[in-house]
Amino acid sequence: MALLEVSGITKDFRRGKKTVRAVDDVSFSIEQGQTMSLIGESGSGKSTVGRIVLGLLKPEQGNVVFDGKDLTSMSPRELRRVRSDLSVVFQEPYESLNPRMTVESIIGEPISIFSPEVSRTERRDRVVSVLEEVGLSSAVLKRHPADMSGGQQQRIGIARALIVNPKLIVLDEPTSSLDLTVRATILNLLKDLQKSHNLTYLFISHDIATVRFFSNTTAVMYMGRFMETGPAAQIIDEPQHPYSVALLSSTLSVDPDEKSVSKRLSGDIPSPATVFPGCPLYSRCPIAIPECNETPVPLRAITDERSAACIRLEQKVAAR
Ligand SMILES: Nc1ncnc2c1ncn2[C@@H]1O[C@H](COP(=O)(O)OP(=O)(O)OP(=O)(O)O)[C@@H](O)[C@H]1O
Ligand code: SF4
Ligand SMILES: [Mg+2]
Repeated sequence: MALLEVSGITKDFRRGKKTVRAVDDVSFSIEQGQTMSLIGESGSGKSTVGRIVLGLLKPEQGNVVFDGKDLTSMSPRELRRVRSDLSVVFQEPYESLNPRMTVESIIGEPISIFSPEVSRTERRDRVVSVLEEVGLSSAVLKRHPADMSGGQQQRIGIARALIVNPKLIVLDEPTSSLDLTVRATILNLLKDLQKSHNLTYLFISHDIATVRFFSNTTAVMYMGRFMETGPAAQIIDEPQHPYSVALLSSTLSVDPDEKSVSKRLSGDIPSPATVFPGCPLYSRCPIAIPECNETPVPLRAITDERSAACIRLEQKVAAR
């Protein structure tokens, strides 16, 4: 059984009088020790999926089974117990680290929350040991985030995620605020930690080259839905869904943005509150036919390992 099994999750947010469907009927699983990535333009729902997996948001529909336990039906008390198996590393280390706290208290805080019985001395020993694992020493214990470089701050963020001995870490654009050389060292660190701790990652990124290097599987998201899923290298090298083709051809190794994706699709991204009777790409898709707009278009297998949400895809593959 996979470590994480997500089935049919849907999440709505109120925006004024309108409802925004941030995540729409999303399902996936991740085996222990593997990395799955989520890619897609800004606002496509990636972070919302991450927050649901972490138990920080409750989906309106669907469930999240982690290590055999259904997080979505747990009481807050039960959830608290499981939460220490799940950690997160955010995009902006400086914003996610409390500037008034020392490195020691930032990294040690999850122990105080999840294991208050641990003594101060043991807590400090564990902080020092995890600092060493992320390539820092006890010399930084009394420092504050503002005195450190971006790369060091993100090492602190990773140490904080690691100290509870999690099984799964959500990495929400963990390197996008860093410059290229620092980015590479942090990614290598995350890979090494994955191997040594048998960690499972849900990796959210705009950086396609990194996704290919870093993940086993990937899902392309658009307007809260999965458009295409499968082995990361196959999807990135040979996207099949019209949205994946537009997203991935707009970027080889740089961040995709809405303008460059829009050049390959007609029209702009619809308002997030739009309700679609059929495929959400209908108004922008270069190969749309009227049937695309009639009924929901679920993900269907297109090979043994890949799925896509497009009614024309079999025809497209066959015509090649
Ligand atoms: N707390 C919230 N309240 C209202 N709307 C929200 C909230 N969180 C997310 N949304 C909306 O849900 C949709 C998905 O947002 P989400 O942050 O998951 O996207 P994302 O793919 O992570 O984008 P980015 O790449 O910019 O981080 C967006 O339309 C966003 O405005
Ligand atoms: S279902 Fe239709 S509109 Fe949607 S991606 Fe496929 S061809 Fe385009
Ligand atoms: Mg996000």
